[in-house]
Amino acid sequence: MYVSQTVATSISHEVSEIYWWSNAITYQIYIRSFADENGDGIGDIRGIISRLGYLKELGVDAIWITPWYPSPQHDNGYDVSDFMDIDPEYGSLEVAQELIDKVHQNGLRIIIDIVPNHSSNEHRWFQDALASDPGSHERNRYLFRDGKGEHGEEPPNNWQSVFGGPAWTRVVEKNGELGQWYCHIFAPQQPDFNWENSEVRDHFIQVLRFWLDRNVDGFRVDVAHGLVKAEGLPDAPFQEHFGLLDSRDFPYWDQDGVHEIYREWRKLLDSYPGQRMAVSEAWVNPPSRSALYVRPDELANTFNFDFLTVKWGQESIKSSIDRSIEGMAAVGAPVTWVLNNHDVVRAVNRLEMDFMAADSPKDPELVIETDFFDFQRAKIRARSAALLMLALPGAVFLYQGEELGLPEVLDIPVDRLQDPIWKMSGNKERGRDGCRVPLPWKVSVDGAFGFSANSEITPDQSWLPQPLDWGNFSAEGQENSADSMLQLYRNAIGVRKRNPSLLSSHFRWMGSPDDSFVFTRSEDSSFLCVVTFEVGEPVPPDYAVLLSSQEIEFRQIPPHTTVWLERNGSACL
Ligand code: GLC
Repeated sequence: MYVSQTVATSISHEVSEIYWWSNAITYQIYIRSFADENGDGIGDIRGIISRLGYLKELGVDAIWITPWYPSPQHDNGYDVSDFMDIDPEYGSLEVAQELIDKVHQNGLRIIIDIVPNHSSNEHRWFQDALASDPGSHERNRYLFRDGKGEHGEEPPNNWQSVFGGPAWTRVVEKNGELGQWYCHIFAPQQPDFNWENSEVRDHFIQVLRFWLDRNVDGFRVDVAHGLVKAEGLPDAPFQEHFGLLDSRDFPYWDQDGVHEIYREWRKLLDSYPGQRMAVSEAWVNPPSRSALYVRPDELANTFNFDFLTVKWGQESIKSSIDRSIEGMAAVGAPVTWVLNNHDVVRAVNRLEMDFMAADSPKDPELVIETDFFDFQRAKIRARSAALLMLALPGAVFLYQGEELGLPEVLDIPVDRLQDPIWKMSGNKERGRDGCRVPLPWKVSVDGAFGFSANSEITPDQSWLPQPLDWGNFSAEGQENSADSMLQLYRNAIGVRKRNPSLLSSHFRWMGSPDDSFVFTRSEDSSFLCVVTFEVGEPVPPDYAVLLSSQEIEFRQIPPHTTVWLERNGSACL
């Protein structure tokens, strides 16, 4: 029996100090698609307030809200025109305060997205820059440069936008002639700030204070690895850019200079009471590089994209876990675990297709062809992955709808696609809308399956159309079904919260047969997590099953299953 075999690997990873974010479960709310209270087919802040009970029952510790600032919505709020206000589509500063207060009254925490790499082109600063001359103080808040070529007709360098096409756009000067170029690593409507300019730095300190004073518990730092560009803006060594996940050595990613910014931010966060934090979105590789963002005097967490992009398989997952834990151990920071977010294909689909290519599907035709998609197989793997993730040491980030087992919506009509990637890739990539479809709350079709408080809104009228079978995935539909995905998440989160060893940083591999792995989270091995792949395994004789991602018959763990076990008589709960 594998449990009695010698221990194969032991990783002792002590986090320097335990903060709330060391082992919290944070639920990401993509505000546009979560819940629509004012009945316009777009999610809003009051919608979030109306669902706080659901989140409490799910058992999460914190929520993260994607950008809610005034925005022309070219990139669903990641193009911010005022960092210190709320988009009227979503509510107002008063409603935001009501949410922050209610979140706290419910014993939860709230973190908000901060977007420091760029603003909207409608931001006052950018409008001022356009109206000012080359070399002006106003232009120096962004990255304006003269073009190359005799008349400046070529972009200043070869950088490509993450969304497709050149990362530079040329402007018309006051004299009506084509003039300088400005840099936008994302859409042209998202000009990059110049972080060498102390005015930009000071502005963001002011923005952070603004929200900290309103009692948010922390920030999710958008494109945290992009703020500082290599000196002189040199050409990139690669001509093509493969989207957000492309973490190769570009002169605009992961420059050492970014860390100084986060050191300053950490000081500010620490000057506030109540353990304020920040988590970085830094698509960098390997985890030892991500670890630099969470050194003791920098940010609190960083998303673990190594785990998110790993292939489904015994060896690959095991080594990703090793890399992740070792990477963070080097700096004494908590590990994080993520399976989904608003930028990647939902895990249900990724895991089924045997590849974890998290990026948006490249071929628009391919994704409409869903015949090859085996939903049963997909569900089995997604359930196993969820239980595995919730058994690992550290913090977990869930993405709305993950707990409902929502699949990627692969067939949104092209005339309804909203992601700037669709247009900027020259209609080659459908983009990320498939994971952003509004949540189904109710079985009945009214109000877009309960997404909208306005029962007249049809699934087709929500800002992204919902599939007609979306009600099957609804929270209401899963509520009373013991083997639903929702109940699996609720049960697992409940067990995790009541079991101190699952909240500790203790982690140790146990010996196991080739096609499975086993780890314990307790010194005395009273708690075990077993994950099988192609081949099933028997439950070890002296252990009882606490939770399993698949039904266990005759004490036989099926393939592609995760099981939580406790030693008989140990009462680890
Ligand atoms: C981040 C966001 C993504 C957005 C991009 C530009 O990667 O997660 O949704 O498009 O930044 O702000």
